Amino acid sequence: MAMAACGRSAFTLRSKMFLFAAFYLLSLSACFAKSPNIVFVLTDDQDTEVGGQIPIEKIRNLVGKEGITFQNMFVSSPLCCPSRSSIVTGKYVHNHHAANNSLNGGCSSDSWQKEQEPTAFPVHLKKAGYNTMFAGKYLNQYGTKPAGGVAHVPPGWDEWIGLVGNSKYYNYDLSINGKLESHGNNYERDYFTNYINNKAEKFLSKQTADSPFFMMLATPACHQPFTPADPYVNNFADHQAPRNGSFNVKAKNKHWLIQQAIVPMPDNSITFIDNAFRNRWRTLLSVDDMMENLYNMLKQKDMLDDTYIFFSSDNGYHLGQFGLPYDKRQLYEFDVRVPLMIRGPGIKAGQITQENAMNIDLGPTFIALSGQQVPSYMDGQPLIPVWSAEPNRTRGSFRSELLVEHYGEHNPSVAGCPQYNNEGMYNCDPNCVCEDSWNNTFSCVRSDRPPHVYKYCIMKDNVNFVEAYELTGDRHEFENIATTGDPTLMASLKDDLMRLESCSGTLCHSP
Ligand SMILES: *[C@@H]1O[C@H](CO)[C@@H](O)[C@H](O)[C@H]1NC(C)=O
Ligand SMILES: *[C@@H]1O[C@H](CO)[C@@H](O)[C@H](O)[C@H]1NC(C)=O
Ligand SMILES: *[C@@H]1O[C@H](CO)[C@@H](O)[C@H](O)[C@H]1NC(C)=O
Ligand SMILES: *[C@@H]1O[C@H](CO)[C@@H](O)[C@H](O)[C@H]1NC(C)=O
Repeated sequence: MAMAACGRSAFTLRSKMFLFAAFYLLSLSACFAKSPNIVFVLTDDQDTEVGGQIPIEKIRNLVGKEGITFQNMFVSSPLCCPSRSSIVTGKYVHNHHAANNSLNGGCSSDSWQKEQEPTAFPVHLKKAGYNTMFAGKYLNQYGTKPAGGVAHVPPGWDEWIGLVGNSKYYNYDLSINGKLESHGNNYERDYFTNYINNKAEKFLSKQTADSPFFMMLATPACHQPFTPADPYVNNFADHQAPRNGSFNVKAKNKHWLIQQAIVPMPDNSITFIDNAFRNRWRTLLSVDDMMENLYNMLKQKDMLDDTYIFFSSDNGYHLGQFGLPYDKRQLYEFDVRVPLMIRGPGIKAGQITQENAMNIDLGPTFIALSGQQVPSYMDGQPLIPVWSAEPNRTRGSFRSELLVEHYGEHNPSVAGCPQYNNEGMYNCDPNCVCEDSWNNTFSCVRSDRPPHVYKYCIMKDNVNFVEAYELTGDRHEFENIATTGDPTLMASLKDDLMRLESCSGTLCHSP
């Protein structure tokens, strides 16, 4: 057994007493306490606001109902690479510097690999004696030639199965511990979620009680191109995207990008949205199967009581909200909220918490569970106090304020939309409605001030447009109160935003 596991800090009275007793009574050189195993399943673009958690019934039952469900889990950025970079580093975007999905925006760039990867959470788990395995989509530029190709294997991983580039279900390339493996489009052999499932099964079958393991499984589901597994292509045929909230609602008093949406949406946009909705659900069924398989295997190996299972996503999603057809990248609830469910030792079943959790907390949580001190350069905090808290804790005692940052992506030309040439727009489909632009760059603070919850955002555009919402009464963010709200309140929210925008480490924490 790894010696490092002996250094585990005790965070419950009982384990403290156990260590004390073991120390006193025995003159053994061996250490009994083994760190728990951890399985982390990360989906791609799975929302909470447009029904994204409905199809994953097995995950809700096996992880959520047998553990804790977070109803307020947020990402540091509503975009894949910045959010994933936050997950592995435990840092806000302004501290890990992966601002967008491009190499020159810091995504898996040379400086990222030199400065961020060596201090990311996997390295700490390895130090604690974990057997570590990664399979799936990592960072959007991972494995591409300018990012060092498939030969680059991030430090900390014993077993590395990294997807080259962005999410795909077929016809993808992998780095298998630094060697290229190419896949085609045979369902049995290649369907990527099932492939990850198979690799996880192999890894799991080799694990014993001697040393703890950590597995991170990052599925392509339910990202574009939304390709379902063969058995599921016809599921949910009579479902359509939810028409509630801000679906197809003309936005008032919002920043420039939102105003360019066509509302009501043309029929072909709605048809596109409904198809995407069904296919997203279908792809998630394979993730559900994977979770069931892993759960059963852990049970067979008698490891379930020794293993934490985490389930989350890298960013939310919208399908027709405020007339934006399909994507993420917006400051609104649908894009910044993601699922989080955790089961494992010491987590009472059936808990539902309102505490504000974030993607930057995942790394610190894994490190704390491995028995180590969370490095002071991480902006996130271990979530352990949330699930071991007394039931009467009031909301906001874990984190009352948090920051969301986005750097709008843009291209010189937009295929099929000549009116947007050299305008700095991005992802304009269907009907030349754009999902991003150079000036869809913003930072937002979310602040719990009981009985209210506020969101206050400043756009980095030509007019420094401000959007502010009182979310308790206006969950769908219809009323921008930036100019109508109490000026003292607005000023205080702005102060908090400024503070968080430049925070690092413990200065990012809030009472
Ligand atoms: C809209 O309806 C879906 C499906 O019933 C539900 O999951 C979701 O929470 C609702 N969203 C909002 C914003 O109310
Ligand atoms: C929660 O608070 C209520 C009211 O103060 C109290 O009666 C109850 O015993 C508390 N429950 C727990 C589990 O502490
Ligand atoms: C990403 O960020 C970099 C650096 O700011 C910028 O040069 C690049 O154009 C951005 N990429 C996109 C697609 O917007
Ligand atoms: C945002 O960018 C678009 C495209 O370049 C431009 O037309 C518009 O005026 C800009 N608006 C603001 C407020 O910056």
